[in-house]
Amino acid sequence: VRVLLLAGSAEGAELARLLHDRGVPTVTSLAGRTRAPAELPGEVREGGFGGPMGLARTLNRGGFTALVDATHPFSARMPHHATSGAAIAGVPRLRLLRPPWTPGPGDRWHDAGDHDAAARLLPAVGARRVLLTVGRQDLAPFAALDGMDLVVRSIEPVPPPEGGRWGQVVTARPPFTVESETDLLRTHAIDTLVTRNSGAAATAAKLTAARALGVRVVVIRRPQPPAGPLVEDAAAALRWVETVVKGPGRRDLH
Ligand SMILES: NC(=O)c1ccc[n+]([C@@H]2O[C@H](COP(=O)([O-])OP(=O)(O)OC[C@H]3O[C@@H](n4cnc5c(N)ncnc54)[C@H](OP(=O)(O)O)[C@@H]3O)[C@@H](O)[C@H]2O)c1
Repeated sequence: VRVLLLAGSAEGAELARLLHDRGVPTVTSLAGRTRAPAELPGEVREGGFGGPMGLARTLNRGGFTALVDATHPFSARMPHHATSGAAIAGVPRLRLLRPPWTPGPGDRWHDAGDHDAAARLLPAVGARRVLLTVGRQDLAPFAALDGMDLVVRSIEPVPPPEGGRWGQVVTARPPFTVESETDLLRTHAIDTLVTRNSGAAATAAKLTAARALGVRVVVIRRPQPPAGPLVEDAAAALRWVETVVKGPGRRDLH
């Protein structure tokens, strides 16, 4: 029994803790992009594998018997590399992906297929004062927008883009409350919020605040996950690991 856990989401960190508590031998893998990643128990490695072939080699050489892909809902490549790398290595793979947010009564949501589509949508919906909460690596499509004020909210400071401009950068770390999000939207007189549909509880308060204030929200759709087994929370992922590693004739983990 040996699990390779691709982390990068809150659920990934939660699963690392659950597996550690159960004594399941696990190596947790991080891309290495976050400057101060959350504390993780047990063995942690950092950095890419060198594509699906590299991942397959790591799985085989490391004697891994299961792969859990708990990367972020907006990880574009890793879920596909995980699927093909696991298939090459002959190791079962699970995608752990929390559910997306869905609009409710009173929401003024506009659906965007990706960040570029969201940027194109802003002038079309009549946005004048925009709060961007998309992650600092995905700001580029918004840099050249004219005729509107852009406020960026980011965990880490964001330098002004070349040839473009941000009105203001607000640095803050989730979780956020409805009160603080309402205050932010009001202070900057925001009429349009741009968000990825991350589905995270820690950042959902902005949607409640936007609904109450009548602020429109441009919601960026997630990339399509690859086919194959998928669960929505860490507890279900733990059950999958236990089922896979038990197999016929294996002892229970407890
Ligand atoms: N918190 C957030 O808002 C947020 C948003 C997006 C992404 N993320 C996290 O940040 C990381 C990178 O994001 P991205 O959009 O650049 O991902 P990506 O496009 O899916 O991955 C790019 C490359 O980074 C390497 N990689 C990604 N996740 C890895 C992991 N857990 N362990 C080892 N290597 C990993 C892989 O390199 P090789 O092909 O060489 O193996 C992958 O091909 C991911 O782990 C993701 O979960 C966080």
